[in-house]
Amino acid sequence: QKLQLNLEQIEKNGFDHFMLKEIYEQPKAITDTYRGRMLVEQGLIKMAGVDDNLEKFLNAKRIVIVACGTSWHAGLVAEYIFEDLARIPVEVEYASEFRYRNPVIDKDDVLIAISQSGETADTMAAIKLAKQKGAFVFGVCNVVGSSISRETHAGAYTHAGPEIGVASTKAFTTQITVLSLIALKLAKAKGTINNTDFHYYLQELEIIPDKITKALESNEHIKAVAEKYKESANFLYLGRGFNFPVALEGALKLKEISYIHAEGYPAAEMKHGPIALIDEQMPVVVIATKKGHYDKVVSNIQEIKSRKGKIIGIVTEGDENVRELADYVIEIPDSTEAFTPLLTTIPLQLLSYHIAVMLGKNVDQPRNLAKSVTVE
Ligand code: G6P
Repeated sequence: QKLQLNLEQIEKNGFDHFMLKEIYEQPKAITDTYRGRMLVEQGLIKMAGVDDNLEKFLNAKRIVIVACGTSWHAGLVAEYIFEDLARIPVEVEYASEFRYRNPVIDKDDVLIAISQSGETADTMAAIKLAKQKGAFVFGVCNVVGSSISRETHAGAYTHAGPEIGVASTKAFTTQITVLSLIALKLAKAKGTINNTDFHYYLQELEIIPDKITKALESNEHIKAVAEKYKESANFLYLGRGFNFPVALEGALKLKEISYIHAEGYPAAEMKHGPIALIDEQMPVVVIATKKGHYDKVVSNIQEIKSRKGKIIGIVTEGDENVRELADYVIEIPDSTEAFTPLLTTIPLQLLSYHIAVMLGKNVDQPRNLAKSVTVE
């Protein structure tokens, strides 16, 4: 048993938990994901699974993404990226709903299945169904040789390395990276973005790992925020556009490991329900980066403030407006809007981690949850 413990300590590489180690591995994991695929100087993206099936992607009348859990959130981010850059209609489905819904899908559709483990039963069943109906099925998996990676027609691995913590972190950001590469590649092939913009996006993606390293420097500050709100019974997470799925993912992370009830919502939907919950007891995490619908999100923040909600703003470096209104702000480096989810996710991962540790929860193996769900 002693030997076992020591081994685990070695594997944790000086971190208290696998989850924290995996959060800190993200700059490297993302670099590993795009290495050899994104050739910035040459202005090229090489991905064999996409190159070999380019016509199928280009002729697709739509892309249907199926996944579960955190992978489903990565799919939602991808929906915004694919539609914005490549102008291909995208639908994102819970695999468990898709498989039992008698879905309309045929040979003109491309189905992308996202799965860290490559073993999720519902995602596997959705793939089999789509194949039966003639769709081309592409997998985005982390585990090499996994069942889903073998069942799909083609695919791209995330190369995040083993993820041990049950709450997914680096798998999420590397899934978004792979899907961004695919979207950019298709956008270039379709001519929906010009060469200058294509180059710009490649350069922006290339420096995301450095920006994540920068975002991780807020760790101590985030710990202080965690200390302040760790006793809260509920949390609300709000985001818009590309960052709406990040709000969902932030809430999921908190639920999974701290057992605090949390809900993620598109910021503008707040007025249709969640606003009724806001009082001085309610911390609201608002993703309010200086892009997209910034002004609108700032007015949501004002509405929260006037109802005495506690505001934790995730903001772009140097932001002044939100700082004036919020109880706490956590800064992230600026980036092109499509890639901000890769940055805004980082403080939310750390916030949930620290709250769970402070509450004495089993961060790496939360109760009732499994790393891979091979049953319905
Ligand atoms: C489980 C895990 C989650 C994961 C989900 C989907 O619920 O605890 O972290 O997001 O399954 O798993 P997959 O391996 O298909 O991405």
